[in-house]
Amino acid sequence: MKNYIQAEEWNIIENGFDAHLNKISESLFSLGNGRMGQRANFEETYTGDTLQGNYVAGVYYPDKTRVGWWKNGYPEYFAKVLNATNWMGLEFRFDGELLDLNLCKVTAFKRVLNMQEGYLERTFTAELASGKQVKVNAKRFFSIANDEIAALHYHLIPLNFSGKLELKAVIDGDVKNQDSNYEEKFWDEVSRAQDGSGSYLTLRTKKTAFDVITGVKTLVYKNEQAVQLGADSVSREKYLSESTSFTLNQNEGIDIYKIATNLSSQNYASAELPEKARAVLGAAVARGFQALLEDQAAAWATKWEEGDIIIEGDVAAQQAIRFNIFQLNQTYTGKDARLNIGPKGFTGEKYGGSTYWDTEAYCIPFYLSTAPQEVSRNLLIYRYKHLEKAIENAQKLGFDKGAALYPMVTMNGEECHNEWEITFEEIHRNGAIAFAIFNYIRYTGDTSYLKEYGLEVLIGIARFWKQRVNWSVDKKQYVMLGVTGPNEYENNINNNWYTNTLAAWCLKYATEAADIVKENDPEQYQRIVAKTTLIDQEFSDWKNIAENIYLPYDQELGVFLQQDGYLDKEQILVSNLPASERPLNQKWSWDRILRSCFIKQADVLQGMYFFEDDYDLESLRRNFDFYESRTVHESSLSPCVHSILAAKLNDGDKAYEFYLRTSRLDLDDYNNDTEDGLHITSMAGTWMSIVEGFAGMRVRADKLSFNPFLPEQWTSFAFKVGFRGIQLKIQIKRDEMIIHTDSKEPLDITIFNKLHTVLAGETVISYKGLLV
Ligand code: BGC
Repeated sequence: MKNYIQAEEWNIIENGFDAHLNKISESLFSLGNGRMGQRANFEETYTGDTLQGNYVAGVYYPDKTRVGWWKNGYPEYFAKVLNATNWMGLEFRFDGELLDLNLCKVTAFKRVLNMQEGYLERTFTAELASGKQVKVNAKRFFSIANDEIAALHYHLIPLNFSGKLELKAVIDGDVKNQDSNYEEKFWDEVSRAQDGSGSYLTLRTKKTAFDVITGVKTLVYKNEQAVQLGADSVSREKYLSESTSFTLNQNEGIDIYKIATNLSSQNYASAELPEKARAVLGAAVARGFQALLEDQAAAWATKWEEGDIIIEGDVAAQQAIRFNIFQLNQTYTGKDARLNIGPKGFTGEKYGGSTYWDTEAYCIPFYLSTAPQEVSRNLLIYRYKHLEKAIENAQKLGFDKGAALYPMVTMNGEECHNEWEITFEEIHRNGAIAFAIFNYIRYTGDTSYLKEYGLEVLIGIARFWKQRVNWSVDKKQYVMLGVTGPNEYENNINNNWYTNTLAAWCLKYATEAADIVKENDPEQYQRIVAKTTLIDQEFSDWKNIAENIYLPYDQELGVFLQQDGYLDKEQILVSNLPASERPLNQKWSWDRILRSCFIKQADVLQGMYFFEDDYDLESLRRNFDFYESRTVHESSLSPCVHSILAAKLNDGDKAYEFYLRTSRLDLDDYNNDTEDGLHITSMAGTWMSIVEGFAGMRVRADKLSFNPFLPEQWTSFAFKVGFRGIQLKIQIKRDEMIIHTDSKEPLDITIFNKLHTVLAGETVISYKGLLV
């Protein structure tokens, strides 16, 4: 855990330069706009430790799987989000001496991520080996007002010398992925061009043949007078530069602007890219850095207006939730149904921009409440479009008759994860996809989704579960063998309670969904029956399995068992683990982890969270106490579920502790892995901790209900949700709740199990005395 980020409500601040923290900061200060993004690498040369990262959404490379021993069924490749062209490079030489913070004495270093207006600012003074001092202020942003544009402004002043400055502006596409399996470079050059409008580099990904053009216009001013740059004739492939040199006098500032565009063949025909890039870049240059920055601030103001959470009385918590909301909005905007939410977004290579179950289990609730309905619908349609591939994927593993197994990791619907215990066994992801359909309909009331898309997906998933279980003569129940639950610190286990529970639920829900479609639209139902060759016998098979599946339970403890034999393990609590041995995944051998009782992330508790109405509070408490004390939360997805459940159990201290942990996971580098990139998908879980946890918001029988709870450390908190065409602003105070709505009709809302009818405008509901 680190503690170097200064808490401020709207800003993420790093004071002072510590090269050891640089990769963490590169992740924390990342920028993006849903279409492209970048780690917070420096503009100028830096030879110190760094993870260079520029990424373009949806552009990937199928890196051939590398494993020691090949097993049948392994995916051929692991899809990598690609480190792409770096548009922002600047090289400074003062009388021949290179500006490189790795070789300088750096003072007054400050990095600020301004979340309110959406830009990154860095200031520092650097003393070169010769004693020359320069002062720099650099600002940059990825525009969310126009997601094809990014821009920077670099202001430099020589403090104690006059001399010759050689300046080079670079576009560098000769880049690698650090995680490349064979040290391969993933891009080929298509073309390089430089003219008055800018410099243009077009690259094509090997194998997948995505073309990406990066166009950059560099403008330099000395004392507000424009300085011309000349194109360098460089013979290097995938690299372009322009240079100038002049005498710079002490205290005389220079201003460099780089305005950049990245366009890809996903959105334009390859042949059109050069022309489009010139048009997009030309318009942005004409608008100018300052105006583009103002557009950015205005666009972010709208985002905050829709989705801000305001916490009063706790700056660290306020900063953290804004950081989470900011990063989610930087990663995914919902504009493009082909895109999804990568666990690391645009902030690192690991997990990259691929799609995981994280989207369905964690991100959907955030987008359901804070974005137009189409955004969540698009996320569901994304999986509908991959249904055929999911059926093929199941076939590869030996399933048939339309059974669908969605991939654990994917870019285009194909499985591209290659650890057998996850690829073949972590099949619970299939259930999360079904649950997301249910969740979407529960929230929006949009049952039409089922007949258009959802039912086909549910049928494929139900068929998979049917074939994945087997009848145990011994237990006289259906069992599911050889799985990995959400807790990846156990592999190849039998009867994971979560997976079995989820499978049974899916089998029932697929039947319910079929009944809904049959009743509301018999014609569509017939179409789906014909397309999927569904027969009635399947429903009775599904029902039989759902009713007779084995769910391990320990009578004495009164808890569900994570899997068969869990209690055979030596039962040690996390509180007995010395701090020096954590995180386990960095300190212990994998063998030791697998044999231990320690749990990576919510597993039984994930199930109790999804299906909370099936369990009474006492049962929840027993399971929570048992499993929480054995959980090490080494997945970022874990603390939020615990926070929500702790709030439900009225354990305010625990709920708050887990909230801080989920919300400041990256800011405080809890799991010692922020340098790889941020945990974007778990950030939606942070939002859930506040809205579902502290506010206790649920949708029950088409109505909103709340069980508010205010952490002691806060004086109030407020958030907005959109619900079925109505906007609500909810403020939770110590003894009352204020609801503001634009609803034209009276709105029924349940608070602490009591129904209130709320009218348009503001309603104050006191719940003094109701708190237990
Ligand atoms: C977690 C998975 C998750 C993945 C990507 C892993 O560490 O165990 O549940 O899907 O990270 O976030």
